[in-house]
Amino acid sequence: MIRPLPGRLVLIGDPVTHSLSPRFQNAALRSAAIPLQYEAIKVSAADLASVVADLAAVSATGNITIPHKVSFAALCRTLTGAAEIAGAVNTFWVENGVLHGDNTDVEGFNFAVERLLGSTPIRQTVALLGAGGAAAAVLSAANQWQETSITIWNRTREKSVAVAERFGGVRVAAVSEQAVKDATLVVNATSIGMTDDSFPVDPALIPETASVLDIVCRIGGTAWVRAARGRGLNASDGREMLIAQGAASFRRWFGLEPDVAAMRGAIGLTG
Ligand code: ATR
Repeated sequence: MIRPLPGRLVLIGDPVTHSLSPRFQNAALRSAAIPLQYEAIKVSAADLASVVADLAAVSATGNITIPHKVSFAALCRTLTGAAEIAGAVNTFWVENGVLHGDNTDVEGFNFAVERLLGSTPIRQTVALLGAGGAAAAVLSAANQWQETSITIWNRTREKSVAVAERFGGVRVAAVSEQAVKDATLVVNATSIGMTDDSFPVDPALIPETASVLDIVCRIGGTAWVRAARGRGLNASDGREMLIAQGAASFRRWFGLEPDVAAMRGAIGLTG
C-alpha cells in the first residue's frame, strides 16, 4: 500500500549534476502515477545539517550521495541494520519529524555482483579501491560472503586503516597495484572516472581471471570498464547496482514495487 506522500523527494550530494538517479526515479514515479518530482540538489558539507533540518520540516524523503553518506548517518535518529553496519546512509525518510536512514547500496551491490559473476559470491579475493561511504557498503556486503578475503586501498591511507579496523579481518594495501595483484574481484568504490576517463588502477595489472565492478555510473559505461573488457576481463559499471539500490529505496519510500523495466530503460540498460 502506498504511504503518505513526502513533501519532497530529493537527492543530496556534491556534485549531483552527473547523477543518473533523477532519470530513472522520475521514470518510476511516472509509471506509478505518483505526483512527485525527484530533484537533485547540490549541498556542501557546511550546509548539510541545516538543509536536512529544512527538508525534515517538510517530511522530505530521498537519497544521499557523495560525499555525505557517512556524515548524514550521524544526523539520523534511527538507522536500519544495514546503515548501522555500514556506518553510512544512502536512503532516508521522515516520520513525525524524525529522520530515519537506511543503506540500500548493500543490497544493490550484492545484486550487481551476482549478476556479474552469474552466481552467489563465495571464495572471493576482493580488492576494494576507496574507503568512503560507498566502500563501507561494499565491505558490509563482502564481509558476509563465505571464504572471502578483502584487501582495501585508498588514496588517504588513514581512512582505509580506520575502515579496515572497524570491519575486522580486512587487509590494507599501501598501493592499488598491491591490492589487485591476486584478486578475483576488483571493485572501484572511489569516484575516479565519474567526471573524466581516468582509471582507479591500470587494468593491465589485474589478473586475467578476475572480474571487475566499477561502482561509478555513466551513460555508455566508464572508460575503466571499457579498458578492462578490452583486456578480456569480465567487467561491469555501476548501473546495475544503481538500479537495484534505487528500486529498494523506492520500496522504502512508498511501500510499492517500482517499474524496474522503466527504470532500467531510462538509463540505457536492457535485459
Ligand atoms: P562515496 O559516498 O561515494 O563513497 P566519499 O565518502 O566522499 O563518497 O568517498 C569518495 C572516495 O573516492 C574516497 O575513497 C576518496 O578517497 P580519499 O579518502 O582519499 O578522499 C576517493 N577519491 C575521490 N577522488 C579521488 C582521486 N582523485 N584519487 C583517488 N581517490 C579518490
